[in-house]
Amino acid sequence: MIVAIDGPAGAGKSTVARQLAERLGFRYLDTGAMYRALTWLAMQRSLPLGDGEPLGELARANPVTFDDAGRVSIAGTDVTSSIRESRIDRQVPVVARHPAVRAVMRERQRELGQQGNVVIEGRDIGTVVAPDAEVKIYLNADSATRARRRQSERPDIGGDALATDLRLRDESDAVRMQPAPDAERIDTTELEVDDVVTRIEQLVQERLAASQR
Ligand code: DC
Repeated sequence: MIVAIDGPAGAGKSTVARQLAERLGFRYLDTGAMYRALTWLAMQRSLPLGDGEPLGELARANPVTFDDAGRVSIAGTDVTSSIRESRIDRQVPVVARHPAVRAVMRERQRELGQQGNVVIEGRDIGTVVAPDAEVKIYLNADSATRARRRQSERPDIGGDALATDLRLRDESDAVRMQPAPDAERIDTTELEVDDVVTRIEQLVQERLAASQR
């Protein structure tokens, strides 16, 4: 079974998806981390981020890997913490926008998603990567709440700059952020993580029960 969790930055995707995967005993795949790792590598190699084809080749030649503890590596380097810096936040939509990059990522995400039960989080999982996912969730929250949540994870940047970054990133990501028509939408602004996880877990159990009937 595939559980697709999409939504904008700060909507709670990572926290919810991780906890949900743990409760269900499913694997967890963070597709944003893949775009972040590629952005890190392109910047490290000083490649122009506006050129799609070379970035697609870079992605193909350097698959992102996750170990069992969820650590992220690319080209032999553990980039788990460096990909969460605000300089990556700012550049990742520039890289993620190229069709050549998305084609490589989509293929790899499908491969990784094929192996048994998995919770996959991203922006286009329910629409493009796994349109047949048995459970599709679209998480959202109001922009002030999303900026506040991001702030606690980004000690390297001030609140105003972060809110601006988040708005710019939303605008740039917007084309890929359309909820799948069959996604269950959850506004997490007023909800505790645990409540969101429990609600999705119920949906998963319902689907599992229906498929066994
Ligand atoms: O969820 P995140 O903040 O780690 O995502 C990082 C960036 O990658 C985000 O700006 C949008 C992009 N992204 C994407 O285009 N498609 C995905 N499936 C996941 C992330």
